[in-house]
Amino acid sequence: MGSKIRLESRKRTAIRRNLLRWYRGNGRDLPWRRTSDPYCILIAEFMLQQTQVETVIPYYHRFLSRFPDVQSLASASQSDILKSWEGLGYYARARNLHRSARQIVEQHGGRVPDAYDNLAALPGFGPYTTSAVLSIAFNADHAVVDGNVKRVLCRIFGIFEGVEKELWGLAESLLPSGKAGAFNQALMELGATVCRPKSPDCTHCPLTRNCIAFRSGNPSSFPRKQNRKIRPHHTSGVGIVWCQGKVLIARRPEDGLLGGLWEFPSARQKARESLKSCCLRAIREATGVEAEIKSRFRKIKQAFTHFSVTIHAFQCTYQRGRTRPLGCKDVRWVLPEELPEYAFSRSGRKLADFLFEPDLSKV
Ligand code: ADE
Repeated sequence: MGSKIRLESRKRTAIRRNLLRWYRGNGRDLPWRRTSDPYCILIAEFMLQQTQVETVIPYYHRFLSRFPDVQSLASASQSDILKSWEGLGYYARARNLHRSARQIVEQHGGRVPDAYDNLAALPGFGPYTTSAVLSIAFNADHAVVDGNVKRVLCRIFGIFEGVEKELWGLAESLLPSGKAGAFNQALMELGATVCRPKSPDCTHCPLTRNCIAFRSGNPSSFPRKQNRKIRPHHTSGVGIVWCQGKVLIARRPEDGLLGGLWEFPSARQKARESLKSCCLRAIREATGVEAEIKSRFRKIKQAFTHFSVTIHAFQCTYQRGRTRPLGCKDVRWVLPEELPEYAFSRSGRKLADFLFEPDLSKV
């Protein structure tokens, strides 16, 4: 064997050893690290996609006390699941989790599959989640690469421009057989707590001796920043329609943005359309109801991954028309005090809460 390979192999061994030792002493005590139940680990991994640990923790506890096992999740209604997910965002995760639970019950006897192909075939299981669940719940030898791991690998190996396939290959080559669960979480942990994007805390890093970025003197320049795309901005009109003390809500179609959540009828403003026309069109197109605008209510800004939106909500009164689910999945007239029972998007929940503020609950 040539010296280069021997050196790489030594480097690999040192990285594994130093990282695992550091993790044993410094890994955070997170609730999903206190269990070996594959179902709980699966829930955590779904919640942790694109979401910070601190945000996930209370949701994780509440979700598991509401749906303690695969069976309870499989037999729950989508509305109940979305209600437990409300505010966590990326609601496709909740819908996929529900579908996956049903398939696990129907096709795998209620046990989370421990074979890669079976798990990867379930809704919402991409390569990352599949490998994370297999390695953490079953300690199976699968590497994971998420945003944190990418950054750690780029810095260790001095890579400016990380290529997805190359990084997965590196993670696989580092993986110590039989210790994948701890090793993967250690890499994630280092990225989240020490090897941070802007101000890496190299004084507390167990890998400085193995790190090309550290040796360069400017570790945070690895990997090179992507040019941030400018997020398009939209404007939406929203109608809060009242009739005999009840308010009109519509359930969004299941697929797509905020799928399955409830909202006050809304539509994106078209070119040359006034906000009021947009609001009345939103109500008509979603529910068949003709309404009249009484007053401006609130303006709310919301950011999504690929765009941001300013929502202009109006207080309206019912005029005529049979209420029916035209551009939505379901439609209801509800008492304001019933609104907390329904799963709303973040902006919808804000509007619903504003309705309880003094002097604004009646038109
Ligand atoms: N992010 C994704 N999975 C994680 C885990 N198991 N622990 C901490 N952060 C994570």
